[in-house]
Amino acid sequence: MATRRKFLKNISLAPASLMIPTALAATSSVNETYTQGLVISTWDFGDLGNRKAWEILAGNGRALDAVEQGVKVVEDDPDTMTVGLNSYPDRDGIVTLDACIMDEKGYAGSVSALERIKNPISVARKVMEDTPHVMLVGKGAQQFALSKGFKLEKQERSPRADQAWKEWLKKSEYKPIINVEMHDTIGMIAMDKKGDICGACTTSGLAFKLHGRVGDSPIIGAGMYVDNEVGGAAATGVGEYVLKTLGSFLIVELMRNGMSPQQACKEAVMRITQKYPYKDVQVGFIAMNKAGETGAYSIQAGFVYSECRAGTFTKNNAQSFL
Ligand code: GLY
Repeated sequence: MATRRKFLKNISLAPASLMIPTALAATSSVNETYTQGLVISTWDFGDLGNRKAWEILAGNGRALDAVEQGVKVVEDDPDTMTVGLNSYPDRDGIVTLDACIMDEKGYAGSVSALERIKNPISVARKVMEDTPHVMLVGKGAQQFALSKGFKLEKQERSPRADQAWKEWLKKSEYKPIINVEMHDTIGMIAMDKKGDICGACTTSGLAFKLHGRVGDSPIIGAGMYVDNEVGGAAATGVGEYVLKTLGSFLIVELMRNGMSPQQACKEAVMRITQKYPYKDVQVGFIAMNKAGETGAYSIQAGFVYSECRAGTFTKNNAQSFL
């Protein structure tokens, strides 16, 4: 396994075209204190999760526990309508949840189209740790969760989700509103005091999606990806665009070849904007590398990401293409 020293050596050997331009490097968040723990997550609700993750990192906990427990807080938050069981349902009025998790050894677990189970991220972790598989979907994922002691929750939609769904049914039109809680996933990447990096991602997916639609969030390499030798990345926004470009995997590979997290997030956005109509599409990425640099970039303005570096919590506006 490559060491941090080898990673830094690789950076110094990166071709000139991949070296970090001074202007871009200046936009990345760099700080020597990363060995005291570092966590980044998507959106301002990520701050809620970062606070939980930080408790674990500050107590010398493992990054895997930090990201699982961190995003779980957001899954349980009744005010978040795009993560967890309180969220907007699909067109049939059913809330279906997607999540994935990845550890510092490269193991991964994922669930998709999971119904009536409160914490899909913890089911994803069980898939990773207790099965030889990476991904379980639908009824099979639910049966597995029940076999692991998760409780079957009531079918009902939360009152706010029910109202929104009934309103949506009047026109039955799918028109995502940029940055307005239609596809806002929480993705989180954390580095613990040992320098190990893990990631998690969880969402209810697009509001009023077709029943059975799977987005980017449970797909390893699309919604989230970690390589402990290099760093990690996570995505939010309209998952179809992230799926078609495997954005999180791409960012980690770009960082492996010497790009800063900021530059790699920007390049992943450019891969989308160069190929697809993007005027009404929001996609945002966050990333962290092994040196404790972080970055974020989105198509549209208005993407906020949250960070906690050595106990200091911030919410930051990401740079954007538009
Ligand atoms: N990014 C969440 C989704 O598209 O499902």
